[in-house]
Amino acid sequence: MAFTIVAIGGALSAQPAPLTPFARQKAERLLRDKLACLGCHRIGGQGGMIAPNLDGVRLRRDPAYIAGIIADPSQVRPGAVMPKSRLSESERTLIIRYFGGDPTAVRNSPVLPQVVANTSAPVLYERWCAACHGLTGKGDGSNAPYLPVAPARHADAVATSLRSDDALFDTIYGGGMIMNRSARMPAFGESLSEKEIRALVRHIRMLCRCEGPRWSRDGSH
Ligand code: HEC
Ligand code: HEC
Repeated sequence: MAFTIVAIGGALSAQPAPLTPFARQKAERLLRDKLACLGCHRIGGQGGMIAPNLDGVRLRRDPAYIAGIIADPSQVRPGAVMPKSRLSESERTLIIRYFGGDPTAVRNSPVLPQVVANTSAPVLYERWCAACHGLTGKGDGSNAPYLPVAPARHADAVATSLRSDDALFDTIYGGGMIMNRSARMPAFGESLSEKEIRALVRHIRMLCRCEGPRWSRDGSH
């Protein structure tokens, strides 16, 4: 997939050295195969519609802001519905530079507690999940048509009863990528507490009115 980032050009002064073609390719491969960014954002005509189009983001935002929101959204934009991505330091630097951000501006200040007024599972689900999975878990959220893989239908009892609670937890915590599923399913382990993720698993069980496979709940492990 080839992206054209129109805004990042020689016209902008005080730009760090542009990425080499090799580094750009590497960034684009990460965006295509490994990261969830395109689940929510559009880049070069592809991707989700939940979040601002990232073409030309450098024209709207300064390099420090771009670095900050990619490194830790809740620090620069408290309350933003953008989970913190799990990136190695080198990936983080590369992706920040790809979008014209300044990696040296990343603050390593202690993580601020998320300000969440109501953490009940339906509220969490509506806020973080429904745009893709649909409010009642039918896989029909408004963003679903923009994903290359259909979001799981949590309300589907046949499909969801094949998943153990642990598998649901791990997918929410670590993202689709670590479960060999689509990377467009974001990881929420850096933004939601384990308690909140467990509540979301229970919520999915309510949506499907189903339980996990017998082996996963016989208590023998
Ligand atoms: C679950 C959806 C979601 C995912 C996944 C996501 N973002 Fe975001 N992102 C958002 C939302 C929503 C905003 C808008 C925040 C605001 O300003 O309130 C945002 C804002 C941004 C901005 C600032 C844009 C602007 O115009 O202000 C950048 C840059 C950005 N995201 C980059 C990324 C990158 C890079 C990734 C992947 C590593 C990523 N995002 C993953 C939802 C997401
Ligand atoms: C940007 C879109 C998007 C958002 C936001 C999103 N998901 Fe997903 N999710 C997906 C996609 C796409 C898949 C399917 C991946 C695949 O099958 O390869 C998926 C799969 C899953 C699965 C695996 C289901 C199974 O049967 O194995 C679980 C569990 C899940 N999502 C839970 C959640 C929860 C909970 C939230 C909110 C905290 C959420 N998702 C937010 C897109 C999204």
